[in-house]
Amino acid sequence: MRVGFTYNMRRAASSPEDDDPHLYPQHAPGISGLDNFAEWDDEQTIADLIDTIGKYHEVVPIEANLAAYEKLRDTRPDLVFNIAEGFHGVARESLIPAMLEMLAIPYTGSDPITLGLCLDKSRAKEILAFRRVPTAKFAVLHAWPLNGQLRHFDYPMFVKPLSEGSSKGIWNDALVHNHTELKKSVEKVWQTYQQPALVEEFMPGREFTVAMLGNGANVRVLPIVEINFSVLPKGALPVYSWEPKWLWDNPESPLEIYQCPAKVDHELQMKIETICRKAFNFLGCRDLCRIDVRLDAEGEPTILELNPLPGLIKDPTIHSCFPKAAYAAGMTFDEIILGIIDAACQRLGIRQ
Ligand SMILES: Nc1ncnc2c1ncn2[C@@H]1O[C@H](COP(=O)(O)OP(=O)(O)OP(=O)(O)O)[C@@H](O)[C@H]1O
Ligand SMILES: [Mg+2]
Repeated sequence: MRVGFTYNMRRAASSPEDDDPHLYPQHAPGISGLDNFAEWDDEQTIADLIDTIGKYHEVVPIEANLAAYEKLRDTRPDLVFNIAEGFHGVARESLIPAMLEMLAIPYTGSDPITLGLCLDKSRAKEILAFRRVPTAKFAVLHAWPLNGQLRHFDYPMFVKPLSEGSSKGIWNDALVHNHTELKKSVEKVWQTYQQPALVEEFMPGREFTVAMLGNGANVRVLPIVEINFSVLPKGALPVYSWEPKWLWDNPESPLEIYQCPAKVDHELQMKIETICRKAFNFLGCRDLCRIDVRLDAEGEPTILELNPLPGLIKDPTIHSCFPKAAYAAGMTFDEIILGIIDAACQRLGIRQ
């Protein structure tokens, strides 16, 4: 097959492409030079994916900028392998899939609606709550005054940007115990990330992330990854915030923060798998997703959020949960990528 590959690349040095308004009219908000490109994939990841897809198919790399539409229209791949995070707004992950829908070109992964719903964490949580899939109580704060929006739950609360990923805007001050701390953290989200703040009940228990591959009732749950907070520096919050993800864990001094397979008893494993299958299907996810789960005060699993475009970093020494789970299942990187392509082809009825 001819497989298009759509991506956004975080370059090591600032590049003229990124600053060219004809290619990227706007960028995601954040702290310049620190986290505004955090969601994009690095050059090595892009190279590894081109190389891997290219071993089995003719690969057509297409950077997901304003020139992408014409390239897709002109090259018309048989299938697009999409990892593009997009560049601005809550529909940013939906931009390429929407173009592909318009061009009637099939692609891997979820459709624009699911990508948008999952990126706005409150919309995803509304659907989960309606379907009675456990998720923390929450409110979306746009402005003061509160007008009783937080009256249905208590401190401590957790404050994060409504629609970011890669722990952007989630630092150790995300956990708040009183109105003064809440105000400070909420205003920081508004100012730095130019979007509403999502305020949630704090889930105090263990944390897991669950990689899923396939579709519908047959979606495969890969070995569960537990986030092992015991390796964090003394005094650090037991949350997978910006600090452990980007500051304290690096190839020179790796943090052994993933335990996979997670040490969970059969009952907890079944509960986690069941709510993840429900979340995957109620949100309309396709082919692959990574779902974050945390236990509440009673030890019951709740869904934190869904990542229908999970990171796919090949190097096992760099922490990337989806490949970590697949490697624990005995898969190779090639098998992960071919598994995603197979899932899409089966769903679409495409013969390879
Ligand atoms: N309600 C909550 N209670 C406790 N901890 C939370 C809560 N919400 C988020 N966290 C912590 O913050 C981390 C990051 O939150 P979340 O997964 O929503 O952010 P993200 O930026 O979308 O993450 P990702 O890197 O998976 O894209 C979680 O892994 C968890 O440790
Ligand atoms: Mg997460």
